[in-house]
Amino acid sequence: MSYILAIESSCDETAAAVCNDGLILSNIIASQKIHEEYGGVVPELASRAHLQAIVPVVDTALKKANVSLDEIDAFAFTQSPGLIGALLVGTEFAKSLSLGCNKPLIAVHHMQAHVLANLIQSPGKKNETPSFPFLCLTVSGGHTQIVLCEDFLQMKVIGETLDDAAGEAFDKSAKILGLPYPGGPLIDKFAKNGNPEKYKFPEPKIDELNFSFSGLKTSILYFIRDEKLKNENFVEENMADICASVQSRIVSILLHKLKKASRETGITDICIAGGVSANKGLRREFEKMGIEEGWKTFIPAFEYCTDNAAMIAITGYYKYKAGIFEDLSVVPSARAVF
Ligand code: KG4
Ligand code: ZN
Repeated sequence: MSYILAIESSCDETAAAVCNDGLILSNIIASQKIHEEYGGVVPELASRAHLQAIVPVVDTALKKANVSLDEIDAFAFTQSPGLIGALLVGTEFAKSLSLGCNKPLIAVHHMQAHVLANLIQSPGKKNETPSFPFLCLTVSGGHTQIVLCEDFLQMKVIGETLDDAAGEAFDKSAKILGLPYPGGPLIDKFAKNGNPEKYKFPEPKIDELNFSFSGLKTSILYFIRDEKLKNENFVEENMADICASVQSRIVSILLHKLKKASRETGITDICIAGGVSANKGLRREFEKMGIEEGWKTFIPAFEYCTDNAAMIAITGYYKYKAGIFEDLSVVPSARAVF
């Protein structure tokens, strides 16, 4: 038995989870609502909100898991990448726990954790997990990557965005449509009743396995501006069709490169991960492509797609097994490759 307590505080979610030998016993998330009125995450406010939430969130995670602090074998935390002030809260909290309880400290890379969310098992629910090597399309608010996973902690980024992330493409498009932050889930909701063929947005011509979303954002901006000149209620009257068309283009850009990556590497165990993998259009089209291409496809449960600490716990568990620990001099980093 090895209990890991994990903390995630890289952006606007304060989260804690406990796992036992890799099985998730609790997964607690406090989402910060304060940013909605600013149309995006305000770093200073995020840090302050983490400070307020971290004690009750960690306490609840322990209680829900029915594990006491002195039973914990190691403390894992998100070290990078993220907002530096936000990361500092989780890092220093985990360091204090490690020092106070005299148990090892484990630093986790947030993007590596998103990938390993595909390996999460819950007690009593045995689900199939991908075999190595596998590919993972990791799509979040700050990153868009195709990752080749050779082993639990051996990962290589073989494609990534050259400008905006897929989550940003969703959020910026939503902003143009007058929707509040974060707009990704709202586009998803409106798209359900819309026609994805109604409006055609361009697919960028980008080399190799890389992505670009900034041109799409500009073309949506100009399209909406021009249509509003003809009909000022254009957006309100056509919201479902616009959202379905925007979503369909973002999804096709992502899946086009994922298919190319699979064909080039010959790898057919394929996962998606990160906040945008909660998108219903992406999940549906990914499964469809999987059938056409003969892939084995894997998608994390909804609660493990967006930011959470269960994914930090599972990554922490593999580092614990490998004996990869940090000393108390460890510091967070806003940017870091793995
Ligand atoms: O992984 P995540 O929770 O945080 C980061 O590490 O960035 O991803 C957040 C991103 C946001 O851009 C949000 O709009 C997007 O994921 N997102 C979605 C959906 N749910 C979250 N985008 C499209 N459809 C969704 N259902
Ligand atoms: Zn994330």
